Amino acid sequence: MDRSAKDRREIIDGLLQVPARIAPKYFYDVRGSALFEEITRLAEYYPTRTEAAVMQVHGADILQKVGAGGTVIEFGAGSCEKARGLCRQLRPQRFVAVDISAEFLHGAVERMRGEFPGLEVLPLVADLSGVVELPAGLPREKRLLFYPGSSIGNFDPPHALALLTRFRRLIDADGALLIGIDLVKDIAVLEAAYDDAAGVTAEFNLNVLDHLNRLIGSDFEPAGWRHVAFYNAAASRIEMHLEALAATWVNWPGGQRQFTAGERIHTENSYKYRRADFFELLARAGFSRCDAWTDPRDWFAVVLARP
Ligand code: AVI
Repeated sequence: MDRSAKDRREIIDGLLQVPARIAPKYFYDVRGSALFEEITRLAEYYPTRTEAAVMQVHGADILQKVGAGGTVIEFGAGSCEKARGLCRQLRPQRFVAVDISAEFLHGAVERMRGEFPGLEVLPLVADLSGVVELPAGLPREKRLLFYPGSSIGNFDPPHALALLTRFRRLIDADGALLIGIDLVKDIAVLEAAYDDAAGVTAEFNLNVLDHLNRLIGSDFEPAGWRHVAFYNAAASRIEMHLEALAATWVNWPGGQRQFTAGERIHTENSYKYRRADFFELLARAGFSRCDAWTDPRDWFAVVLARP
């Protein structure tokens, strides 16, 4: 099955579930990726700037443990903004930018090449929920896998464990994983980060419906839905949903579904971890030496995990 047929099957299966679901990877069309960049600059959305501050303050420490050179492989590279700082500090020989959005990646890789003339920059379009095949011939020695932004939080724990296990297989004993995780904190802080006053996160959530309309030919009317975000403390996660404002039918070639007023489509989970729980997950994935650096409020951790 080709990629678009697989996406189509997966999307329709999700829409027909009760409750309906849309996988968060479908947020990231060109507009969604740009909206996400906007989210990272919002006053309420602390993860990006807190992680950057942790990397800035503890960069020398991290560098000392990782060592310069080698290959940096960033997953979910987006605009490659975070990799810039890391490449400046680590001076790797090679940088592989992995992202699901081909259009977004292309420009970002060109900018990296311009900025780091001696650096070999390789783009790779891949969906992290499946198997990631790194470019053939990519040296195995001294690989640093970089997975910032607490993107691991968008996987539920069994899938997070599976992803970390796949990461472990990509490196040898001299490799490492540098990963950002969002920590459990005050609920008001968490909820504001996913329901900002300017409505950018709402737009980001609703944009998935336009993306679906293009992918499967559905007739979602985004104006008929509202953004819902809340912290589910029992599951330790922010949940995002789209709620139907009125009863509606959604049609696509070969199928349809009715939604009642107030019915929701679950679009994203964003798990928040306690450091000890995350270390345990890493250990189960085969990473036994772990170090973590956090900000003074203990809101966000940057973890260096080694086999
Ligand atoms: C990409 N990911 C880590 C973001 C998060 O915080 O879970 C996605 C996001 N969703 C809403 N705001 C940001």
